[in-house]
Amino acid sequence: MAKKTTVFFCKECGYESSKWMGQCPGCKSWNSFVEEPVKISKPAGTARDSGGLRRSAATSLKEVSVADHYRIPSGMGELDRVLGGGIVPGSLVLLGGDPGIGKSTILLQVSKYLTEHGTKVLYVSGEESLQQIRLRADRMGEFGGDVRMASETSLDVIEELIAAEKPDFCVIDSIQTIYREDVSSAPGSVSQVRECTNILMQTAKQNNITIFLVGHVTKEGMVAGPRVLEHMVDTVLYFEGDRSAVYRLLRAVKNRFGATNEVGVFEMGENGLTEVENPSEYMLNGRPLGMSGSSVTCVMEGTRPMLLEIQALVARTAFGLPRRTAVGIDFNRLNLLIAVIEKRAGISLGEYDVYVNITGGMRVSEPSIDLAVVLSIISGYYDVPAGEHDIAFGEIGLTGEIRGISNAPMRVREAVKLGYTRVILPEVSMQRMPKELRDCCVPVRTIRDAVRLLSKK
Ligand code: TYD
Ligand code: MG
Repeated sequence: MAKKTTVFFCKECGYESSKWMGQCPGCKSWNSFVEEPVKISKPAGTARDSGGLRRSAATSLKEVSVADHYRIPSGMGELDRVLGGGIVPGSLVLLGGDPGIGKSTILLQVSKYLTEHGTKVLYVSGEESLQQIRLRADRMGEFGGDVRMASETSLDVIEELIAAEKPDFCVIDSIQTIYREDVSSAPGSVSQVRECTNILMQTAKQNNITIFLVGHVTKEGMVAGPRVLEHMVDTVLYFEGDRSAVYRLLRAVKNRFGATNEVGVFEMGENGLTEVENPSEYMLNGRPLGMSGSSVTCVMEGTRPMLLEIQALVARTAFGLPRRTAVGIDFNRLNLLIAVIEKRAGISLGEYDVYVNITGGMRVSEPSIDLAVVLSIISGYYDVPAGEHDIAFGEIGLTGEIRGISNAPMRVREAVKLGYTRVILPEVSMQRMPKELRDCCVPVRTIRDAVRLLSKK
């Protein structure tokens, strides 16, 4: 019988099988198997069969030194915040995002800063020519340091380059363009991406080099290639935001060296990316005053409170069935809130279209925005503007009760800092409210209390 030359891989979890299957036995996802040629090379042997003796031995947790876990500032406070305090030497970081969002730009800017501060940087691009990178670099101003560049796609050559240049920081742009010669499938395929990442992981750990991998994102919003890629690296960052809008959000979805809920905000300008240190002010820029259907809320992005504007348009339905549209919030959540308004506040929206939008292109999944969404809809329905200096947050339950949320004092403080004088919040959140913040708080218990406040400005 002829020797089998292809195997099947699960795109989600990397499960390997000799035949195609509809459902992956490993992760239970459907239709995730792709066919790929068999790898010719053998994986490196284990420690035991290479030397006869095991090299590693167990140590006590207390004896593990943490002193070498220092961090290098990247020159961008927002990036440091997302990484959990700075770049960890020897870590492997995956940066994902839509094309044109600014992945190459941010890494070039970090490279510029690092070389100017005594770190050796190797920037390998498999996508752009050196001239193209030079043109981009020219927009960023004078480069004080020496960034070593290479336009290369063969991992074997890249390995040699790393050995010769001995960088402390290395960028691979992007992992989908890199290939190993002894793996016969095309660059970007499951086995190539997996193999290359594996080798780069070993390089990073053995030589204490920080490696940033750029990853392409598929239509579904995941890094293209196997899901295992995300499991292999230390940190996964996603760059998101509307390409046509100027701001960009950098989010950590996995971080072995820090919290994952931190968000960094950047603005794309003529000379590359700049940090947005006060996102609240930025998000509320251009808010219409004295208009109905708009209210302000405060969400927590990681440990940082951020103010957002929520807009609602309530218009009479032209044809029988009312339309509901949600941009930036969950569609089902909007339907639920509309049902609560109808039942608990006694406002019938059956003949009205309702459109809700979070301005600035933000997406929020926190239930604390419920109250502001409801206030915007009701303000739109009655055509009564909410108070200019009002802000509201709180989760709404199915009986119309306003439920407590986390970090209420922090949110109130941020609102006060930006000049808001009336904070509508859940009554239970008042329990731990510091004295100096109590004056501007208006606690509410039910959705009806909140509606009453709209007419009393
Ligand atoms: P880029 O970093 O090439 O994106 P990615 O690597 O994620 O695909 O982003 C480039 C986009 O940003 C491109 O559309 C041009 C724009 N840009 C600016 O607006 N200003 C600048 O200074 C730079 C360098 C790029
Ligand atoms: Mg790029």
